[in-house]
Amino acid sequence: MEKQKANILTFKEMKKQGKKITMVTTYDFAMMSQVDKSDIDMILVGDSAANTMMGYEGTVQIDLDTMLVFCKAVANAGKHTFLVGDMPFMTYEISTEQAMANAGRMIREGRMDAIKLEGGERIAHTVAALVRAGIPVMGHIGLTPQSAAQLGGFKVQGKNLQDAKQIIKDALALERAGVFAIVLEAIPGPVAKIITESVQVPTIGIGAGNNCDGQVLVIHDLLGLFDRYIPKFVKRYANLGEDMQKALNTYASEVREGAFPDKEHSFSMPQDLVEQLTAELQEEGIL
Ligand code: KIV
Repeated sequence: MEKQKANILTFKEMKKQGKKITMVTTYDFAMMSQVDKSDIDMILVGDSAANTMMGYEGTVQIDLDTMLVFCKAVANAGKHTFLVGDMPFMTYEISTEQAMANAGRMIREGRMDAIKLEGGERIAHTVAALVRAGIPVMGHIGLTPQSAAQLGGFKVQGKNLQDAKQIIKDALALERAGVFAIVLEAIPGPVAKIITESVQVPTIGIGAGNNCDGQVLVIHDLLGLFDRYIPKFVKRYANLGEDMQKALNTYASEVREGAFPDKEHSFSMPQDLVEQLTAELQEEGIL
């Protein structure tokens, strides 16, 4: 049976019914073609593309035009999966007007179903304006990689009472502003549980324990395609990096040995035609 594309009401209903929401990041056509055939409900064209696709250490280097390239590629394959596009650093903080214009590009040009942005109380007024304009918004609190420098690095957040309370207040502010879901990144499981039980919208955890309404992982991490660093919360479900090495090395050795391409992967020509071609080339002085 063909996968039914979910929408923001489906996700609300899933939370009500206690059905877990599944999400991964995706950045290109080939990968999205696979994800679209899978049981994954929703994807994020994450600004983690800065790390996984471009090799930067952080996410602040990626700009809107680059994100749009990844969004367009994903949208070309993502027909049965809800598509969320990540707003890159400094595309929504400067003014509400700029946030609206940039989010509009993610929806119109990038063909995303929704956008995601980082921050809680501090960004709630922007979220409210985007939602009023008809753009579905996903929040992202806890460890917010775009402000990693201000947080002192990529660290677990909300470990003391004051920080935990602030994250809970952030979640409530985002819900009031109208988000359809909230990503909770790298926070203690019990804090994620309090948030999940306190808001009506689904929570999507990454390093936030098992009590969230759904989970998200960076697809390169779960498939074993990225080993520069592996956060504690990442579980590898495949080792595609190793499989790729094997395939590439087999190809290289077959080419060196003359075993590839074989008859099956080549185009032939009748022998008499080959002889006629050689004869004519010689007659015409081409060879
Ligand atoms: O960009 C990203 O991959 C993300 C996820 C970690 C949620 O924001």
